[in-house]
Amino acid sequence: MTSLRAHAAAGDLLTGFAVVPSLLRDDAAYTNVVREQANLIVAENAMKWAALRPSATRYDFDDADMLLNFAEQGRMKMRGHNLLWHRGIPQWFTAMATPANAKQLLQAHIETVVGRYAGRMHSWDVVNEAIQISDGRPDGLRSSPWLRLVGDDYIEVAFRSARRADPQALLTYNEYGIEAENAQDEAKRQAVLLLLRRMRARHVPIDAVGVQSHISAGTKYGDGLLRFIRGVRELDLQVFVTEMDVNDRSLAPAIAARDATVAQTYKDYLDLVLSEPAVTVIVLWGVSDRDTWLNHEDSRQDRVPERPLLFDDRFRPKQDFYAVRDAFDQRHPVHPSLNG
Ligand code: XIL
Repeated sequence: MTSLRAHAAAGDLLTGFAVVPSLLRDDAAYTNVVREQANLIVAENAMKWAALRPSATRYDFDDADMLLNFAEQGRMKMRGHNLLWHRGIPQWFTAMATPANAKQLLQAHIETVVGRYAGRMHSWDVVNEAIQISDGRPDGLRSSPWLRLVGDDYIEVAFRSARRADPQALLTYNEYGIEAENAQDEAKRQAVLLLLRRMRARHVPIDAVGVQSHISAGTKYGDGLLRFIRGVRELDLQVFVTEMDVNDRSLAPAIAARDATVAQTYKDYLDLVLSEPAVTVIVLWGVSDRDTWLNHEDSRQDRVPERPLLFDDRFRPKQDFYAVRDAFDQRHPVHPSLNG
């Protein structure tokens, strides 16, 4: 009853982790933590194009099927991540896609993947990371392969296909670099809001915005993010924190002080975003510090392993675990009798 999922449920929140199929097969400690703590999971990689599409003609659903079955058996919801991204596009796609066939390839992928799990998914990240201000377009869109191949309407095409394939899943636009109080993130927030307004005006089906929340220890987040969340809510969309972790790159290596600052950063960030009723989902990007992606991409310069997640490398809860639970209680405290 002291689990994250119990504390989250008391405040009508969904919470959980990005998970890895091989660890759920082979690692009992990992699997137990996920079962105990999460009421929602997402595939860290197993539902991306690169994982599902070994070739133009073949789909490999083994890992994705396994994850959804695991979720259902554990009474967890599942998010799908993702249907369209500028990264992780299979090499065969790059070799064969042309402006003449790309829209059809995209639609077929979405129909097949979303259709396979229709009625069973909480939500799908339909489009991931489509804004890149530095690419210089007036609309802020990233000059991604999808834009070049499918055309300016590729986002709309993707969302409409997803809705047709599963009318129940909440369709999400997911973005990073929109959290901080600086001019760069503010410009990106504005571009995302403009994109959402354009989509609304054209009746493109969308239900939520994912704020990835790969944030930095010791950084103060604030009004810019709150205004963004309120702007999203005014468009009648929910807000999901989809990929939270707290990198400790700027901190000295000593562990105790690092863990305390990371925990405080989790608490402050979640207190901020959970003050907004539009925020209904909090997902951590991994379970334990042993498995964080941050030690592979964006690792510390001194090569000391980062400690960005709620469990240490032996699956013991860290200070940040308790900080996150406390932040969930702010929203709606767990009844004392459950809080044993
Ligand atoms: C990352 C995974 O964590 C890594 O294992 C993989 O090598 C690359 O992708 N934004 C996203 C996620 O939307 O899909 C990324 O996940 C992290 C950044």
